Amino acid sequence: MKLPSPLAILALLSVSCGNVVAVDYTTEIRPILNKKCYKCHSGPRAKGKLRMDSQDSFADRIGGDDPAIIPGNPANSLLTIKASLPRTDGDAMPPPPARARGAEAMTSAELNLVKQWIAEGAKFSADDPDPTPTTTATAAELLDWRNTKGVSLKAFFVAVNATHVKLRKDDGSEFVYPLANLDEASQAQAKKLGAQ
Ligand code: HEC
Repeated sequence: MKLPSPLAILALLSVSCGNVVAVDYTTEIRPILNKKCYKCHSGPRAKGKLRMDSQDSFADRIGGDDPAIIPGNPANSLLTIKASLPRTDGDAMPPPPARARGAEAMTSAELNLVKQWIAEGAKFSADDPDPTPTTTATAAELLDWRNTKGVSLKAFFVAVNATHVKLRKDDGSEFVYPLANLDEASQAQAKKLGAQ
C-alpha cells in the first residue's frame, strides 16, 4: 500500500480546515437566543414546546421527530424559517403582537450566525455541557412582587420611573403600578432593575 506523502496530507488539511472557524454555541449563539427568544422560550412553560435555555430540552427539538432545527439544514429548520419571516407575518418570531410591544427580531447578522451554526451541525460547545443560562434581559425573569397589603404577584419587570413601575404578567399583559403601594423589598427590586 502506498501512503500519501506528508506534503499531500498537509495540502489536504489546509483545504479542509482553511480559515474557517466553527461557530461556538456558548459564546456566539446562546447570547442571541437569550436576548431575542428566551423571554418566551425558556423555563418549563416555554412557548411552542420549544425550550431553549436548557440544552437538554433544546436538544429534544434538534433533529428527531419534531425538529425546530434540522442539523446541517438551516433552510428547512423551523427556527430559522420563523425568525426570517417578514415582521408582519403571523407566523414570524417574535410574533407580531410582541414586536408591537418592543420584542426585537434577530438582526440579519445574528440570523446568519445562527444559520451557520445549524449548517455546521447545531452542536453545543464541548466544554460547556448544560450551564445555568446567564440571563442578560432582566425582562426574561418572572419575579415576585409584593404590595404593602402583603398580596404577591409574579410578573416580569418592564420599566420604572420615579413614581410607578411597569410590569408584565405571564400572559403578556402589561400594567402600571404605583411604587408607593409596593413593599420595601419590591420597591428596591424595581429600582435596582431600572438602574441596570
Ligand atoms: C413574545 C413571545 C415570543 C418570543 C419573544 C419568541 N417566540 Fe417563538 N413562539 C412564541 C409562541 C407563542 C409560539 C407558539 C405559537 C406559534 O408557533 O406561533 C412560538 C413558537 C415558536 C416556534 C415553533 C415551535 C413549534 O414547534 O411549534 C419556533 C421555531 C419559535 N417560536 C422560534 C422563536 C425564535 C427563534 C425566537 C427568537 C428570535 C422566538 N421564537 C421568540 C412566542 C415567542
